[in-house]
Amino acid sequence: MVNSLQITDSRTQKQYTIPIENGAIRTMELRNIKVNDDDFGIMGYDPAFMNTASVKSKITYIDGDKGILRYRGYPIEQLAEESHSFLEVAYLIFHGELPTKDQLDEWRSNIMSECFIPESIATILKGFDLSSHPMGMLVSLLGALSTLYPESQNIHDPTIRMKQVYRLMGHTPTLCAMIFRHTKGLPFQEPNLQLSYSGNFLAMTFGTTTVHPVFERAMRVLLILHADHEQNCSTNVMRCIGSSLANPYAAAAGATAALWGPLHGGANEEVLKMLDEIRTIENVPAFIKEVKEGKRRLMGFGHRVYKNYDPRARVIKQLAYEVFEVTGKNPKLEIALALEKIALEDEYFIKRRLYPNVDFYSGLIYQAMGFPTNFFTVLFALGRMIGWLAQWNEHITDPEQKIARPRQVYVGYDERPYIPINQR
Ligand code: CMC
Repeated sequence: MVNSLQITDSRTQKQYTIPIENGAIRTMELRNIKVNDDDFGIMGYDPAFMNTASVKSKITYIDGDKGILRYRGYPIEQLAEESHSFLEVAYLIFHGELPTKDQLDEWRSNIMSECFIPESIATILKGFDLSSHPMGMLVSLLGALSTLYPESQNIHDPTIRMKQVYRLMGHTPTLCAMIFRHTKGLPFQEPNLQLSYSGNFLAMTFGTTTVHPVFERAMRVLLILHADHEQNCSTNVMRCIGSSLANPYAAAAGATAALWGPLHGGANEEVLKMLDEIRTIENVPAFIKEVKEGKRRLMGFGHRVYKNYDPRARVIKQLAYEVFEVTGKNPKLEIALALEKIALEDEYFIKRRLYPNVDFYSGLIYQAMGFPTNFFTVLFALGRMIGWLAQWNEHITDPEQKIARPRQVYVGYDERPYIPINQR
């Protein structure tokens, strides 16, 4: 076989030929490698999935060494700069092609008509303490939506599945805006379907009828940049929950919970806390020293896949200057720039190939636009919803997929007899 791996098992001297397809081997092939018929066969051991592909996907391509990110083949920089609507990119991510005008109109109408949220969800939200973390509320409300749409459980029906996609895309901006207003003790504002997806979200959030075009563009670009990122932690959760055939609201709530963590989407909140703590440029070297001593992490830096500048960070850094022209410069920008400069020239970061990621500059923009720090990850979730849904849909319709269920390498005790409590 030309594209294959030849393996010799030194325990038995037996030889095995394992086909290589798309640069990967099927690890189930390793199970044929046994010392005798009773042997279970060899497994792959890969904590944190460092080198394990669990899906074949056509949605997002990343080349981490070169710093390339594409949705369905289109470079992220072009989509961020040239697409005039987030829903156009959302359509591309979900359906695989850029929409015609009629397709985009229909997609937009199906989603925007779902921007209205049933009253019972508002009642649940009002039960949360005003100081509750917005991500905790978002996780809860997404899960709660499942109780309103029990038919969503029928995930093998494509029409029902699409309906839930429209609902989650339509409901999420409204939920996010309601959560924002709840934390401020403000009344909820009705959606305005005349506005764009991003504009409507900002208007509902800040209680306005119009939105500054620079803020609308910034929101659109940020949503586009966050829309998908192949098999990251939260997407893996979305697929994993979906693989048990749970409804998409349950899966989206789980994905949102995974996003919340400070090593994932929660990093944007952590970056601002870090900049607050550093306070002045003079304190930057001492902070970097602590990072190099392993006492803490430089939040917003480093990535499992990118070993180069995250292309999203480059776009966001540029966008920050556009927003600051309207809002005035966020004073923390100077600290962020100083951190980046020192880090990019420092042996510790160069050796480990640590560069700014999407979360490093996004919080500075969010803060300048008036979002509190603990709301940043909600904005990440709002953008990522379409990616989760596209990946979930791909998973559900992939005939090769089954319930996700990893193996383990058991290293605990062998069988031993129970000891009564008075003998321990
Ligand atoms: N600051 C300091 N050192 C770091 C950092 C950092 N931000 N990130 C990685 N390292 C070091 C790490 O200590 C290790 O060093 P050593 O080899 O000496 O032990 C080396 O770099 C490799 O790190 P790792 O933890 O094995 O890498 P990983 O692929 O498991 O982690 C990461 C990726 C993103 C979790 C990590 O880089 C990190 O914690 N970054 C800060 C949090 C952050 O910004 N997260 C947002 C990620 S992008 C948005 C998203 O997709 O959610």
